[in-house]
Amino acid sequence: MIRRRWAGGAAVGLIALIALASALWSRAGAAPAPSQPREVVAGRQLYLTHCVVCHGDAGRGDGPSAAGFATKPSNLADGRLMNGLPDAFLVNIILRGGPGEGLSPGMPPFAAYFGEAQARDLVAYLRTLADPPFAHEAARPLVVVPGAPRQPIFFSHLIHAGSFQIDCQYCHADARRSEYAGLPSVERCVGCHKIIGVQDNPEIGKIHEFARRGQPIPWVRVFKVPEFTHFPHKPHVRAGLACQTCHGPIERMRVVGAQTGPRLLNDLARLIGMRPASPPLTMGWCVDCHRAENATRGTRAPLDCIACHH
Ligand code: HEC
Ligand code: HEC
Ligand code: HEC
Ligand code: HEC
Ligand code: HEC
Ligand code: HEC
Repeated sequence: MIRRRWAGGAAVGLIALIALASALWSRAGAAPAPSQPREVVAGRQLYLTHCVVCHGDAGRGDGPSAAGFATKPSNLADGRLMNGLPDAFLVNIILRGGPGEGLSPGMPPFAAYFGEAQARDLVAYLRTLADPPFAHEAARPLVVVPGAPRQPIFFSHLIHAGSFQIDCQYCHADARRSEYAGLPSVERCVGCHKIIGVQDNPEIGKIHEFARRGQPIPWVRVFKVPEFTHFPHKPHVRAGLACQTCHGPIERMRVVGAQTGPRLLNDLARLIGMRPASPPLTMGWCVDCHRAENATRGTRAPLDCIACHH
């Protein structure tokens, strides 16, 4: 009886010892923890092969080749900048290189080495590096609007407003005080891009060409109501309406686009007696919101013709 109990105690002791030893072993970094999902393990392997040289062991942008780049390899472990970037954006950069998203060609394309599935594994691994940690449930998808125009410079709201979180009104400063929201001047771009990206990003180089020639950047207009209509930003912004209410999730668009104006399917639905929501920037859209806001919030949004047509 006594001996058996002692033997049991020894067995428990031995198991504890093995557990401790194996814990120390895995702490030493010999192998990734076996509990990690398959794609993270596969992504880590790809990362060690292709990315460490520039982005460094821990993703901080401090690999052995990093010093040679004018635009430094990104700190892929900086959760503040990385967590807001959608998977599809990261996959695209990995496969097509920096220029696929308007960034520096110092970030090379990897499409010749592996496919989309591997790029997704890499993204799964990059997400584990983030500090503050990446929260899967907070992830939001990239927004691609069909028919978005080609702009004279590949300017990305996803990078400026999404990743770097520059305030909308820092660049569209007139929105709260006048009819037009306004676009930033070349000087405003130069203010930041005197240093950022000038040496090796051709898209940023274009800013300096416009500045040198003293020309405004000829941005293609996206949201536009007809000339005979009057839309003032000021009262809408002051009434507390978020820009996104009317423009959509701009901070998740690599190129701003809009599907506005009358739509045939919408008109056909009305013909058969349905009441679909009016498409943005149609008169029905303005009037529907004015009615709803006045009913629920007691605002005095106008319904008379002359307020919007004069
Ligand atoms: C030859 C050097 C080099 C290699 C190799 C490299 N990168 Fe990069 N990477 C860069 C540079 C430089 C940038 C910064 C581009 C910029 O900010 O304009 C960058 C940026 C990025 C970004 C954009 C992050 C952001 O700031 O939005 C991602 C994602 C990325 N790299 C992932 C990878 C992955 C994954 C690999 C391996 C498959 C890899 N890179 C290999 C140089 C490299
Ligand atoms: C408040 C500072 C700031 C202002 C103002 C600013 N940028 Fe940037 N811009 C950045 C930062 C930061 C990056 C990211 C650099 C990187 O990671 O390589 C960037 C990246 C870019 C890039 C490369 C990525 C992309 O968006 O395609 C372009 C092109 C660019 N900016 C154009 C512009 C233009 C045009 C303007 C003026 C309308 C402008 N920027 C105004 C800070 C600024
Ligand atoms: C760094 C400057 C910068 C920041 C920050 C910025 N924008 Fe822009 N925005 C621009 C530039 C430049 C354009 C013109 C090129 C384009 O359409 O992408 C533009 C275009 C737009 C347009 C389309 C204008 C048109 O032609 O109809 C809208 C809408 C817009 N921005 C809304 C926003 C919102 C909402 C935010 C914040 C989430 C924001 N912007 C943040 C610079 C900026
Ligand atoms: C109630 C809807 C609504 C809200 C809220 C709104 N906009 Fe607009 N925005 C519009 C409409 C409609 C147009 C087209 C106006 C025209 O053609 O004169 C427009 C045009 C624009 C333009 C292009 C030209 C210009 O200078 O006006 C920009 C840039 C813009 N908005 C940015 C913003 C930003 C940034 C915010 C938030 C601060 C915002 N908008 C809030 C409806 C809205
Ligand atoms: C998302 C809701 C919303 C949409 C969409 C919207 N508005 Fe408004 N609008 C308001 C609210 C709320 C007010 C009242 C603000 C107040 O009481 O100060 C207002 C006020 C106005 C005013 C009165 C301004 C003043 O000086 O009193 C005009 C003109 C106007 N809107 C035109 C338009 C036009 C034109 C459109 C469509 C192109 C439009 N609005 C779309 C919510 C909206
Ligand atoms: C809240 C703002 C608003 C009010 C109020 C408003 N409209 Fe409009 N209206 C618009 C906008 C924006 C357009 C342009 C978009 C479109 O064609 O749907 C428009 C377009 C029109 C058009 C041209 C339609 C076409 O197919 O080209 C006519 C005609 C018109 N309005 C008449 C009126 C009359 C009459 C009233 C008063 C009973 C009125 N509107 C009240 C915003 C308004």
